[in-house]
Amino acid sequence: MEKTSIRRSMAVLTSDYYATPKTSLMTFHFEPERFNTSYNRLKEGAVSHGTIEGKDFYIWDQFFQENERDELRDLFGNAHYSRFSYGSPESIEQGQKPAKSMNNAERWAFFAKSSPALEELNKLFSTFAHEMDADLMTLPWELCHGITGSPSVIANYHEEVTKESLHLGKHQDCSPSTGIHFGIPKLYAENELHGRQFENGTSGNPWMISMMLYSTSSNFLPEYKMGTVFFDSKDELKLQVACNHARLILFEGDIHHSADASEIPPDTKVWRTSYVFKLIMNPKRANQNLKQDFQKWLTSLSPNVTELSLPLFV
Ligand SMILES: [Fe+2]
Repeated sequence: MEKTSIRRSMAVLTSDYYATPKTSLMTFHFEPERFNTSYNRLKEGAVSHGTIEGKDFYIWDQFFQENERDELRDLFGNAHYSRFSYGSPESIEQGQKPAKSMNNAERWAFFAKSSPALEELNKLFSTFAHEMDADLMTLPWELCHGITGSPSVIANYHEEVTKESLHLGKHQDCSPSTGIHFGIPKLYAENELHGRQFENGTSGNPWMISMMLYSTSSNFLPEYKMGTVFFDSKDELKLQVACNHARLILFEGDIHHSADASEIPPDTKVWRTSYVFKLIMNPKRANQNLKQDFQKWLTSLSPNVTELSLPLFV
C-alpha cells in the first residue's frame, strides 16, 4: 500500500486555558506530496462549494471507490466508542442523550491503524499540502479545559440525535478571530509564532479547516437526517448536510455547527459516524492566501464545481 509520511511535532500553549494534565500538544503534519490517486479523484469527481458569511465549505460525494466504501462501513461500524460526548457541561445537567465517541486509547489506535480507505484521506491531505505549498497540520491531539476536551482527530457515533442535543451541541471547532490558545509557527519568520488572534485564512495567516467523513449503517436513509447543521453568526440555519455514507465535507472550522436531529422510524435501528480532522493549513510565504488559493486550485482542477446558494438541504 502506497503510504503518506506523517511527521509529529509538539505545539506550545500560549495561555493557561488548556494547561491541564489531560491536554496533549502533539500535532501531526501531512508531508507535502502529490499523489496521483488523490489528484485524479478530485479531478474526476464532482465537488460542491458554498459560503456562509464568506466562510467556505466543500462537499465531495464520490471520492471513495466501492471497495473502500464497504471498508469504511466495516471500520466505523466495528470501532470502539467507550467515551460519551456532550455538547457542554450544562447539557449533561439537562439530561442530554450523549453521542458515543472514542476515548484517548481508542482514537489513538484508530488513527495509527493503517487501512487503504483511510490512507486515501491521508494522501488527500498530503496532496493538499503539496498543491498549496503549505504545511498541513492537525490541531493539538487534545485540548482539555475542566471536564471537557477538544480532540483534533475524533470519530463520533450516533444512533439518535434529539432536537435538544442539536441545540445544546452548537459549537465552532476553532475561533481564531476571538483567539487560539496554542502557538502556530510562522513559517516565513525565524522562531516566531502567528498571533493569537487572526482572521481565518487571510493573506499570510493560517487557514483553520475541518474535514469530516461520514459513514452510516447499510440500512440508513438520508431522510433519517443526523447529518450536520451549519449556522451563521446570528444563529440562523444556513446549511443542512445529509450524512450520506462516505461523503466528505471540508469547512472553515469557525463556522457554527451541530449534529442534526434525527427522524428515524420507531422500530428502525441505524447508526452514523462522523470522523473529523481539525486542521491548520499554514502558509510558507507572507503573501500567500491559502483560502483563495485553495478555491482557485480546485476550480481549475475540476470542471464540476457546483456553486451552492443558501439556505439549503444537501
Ligand atoms: Fe465540530
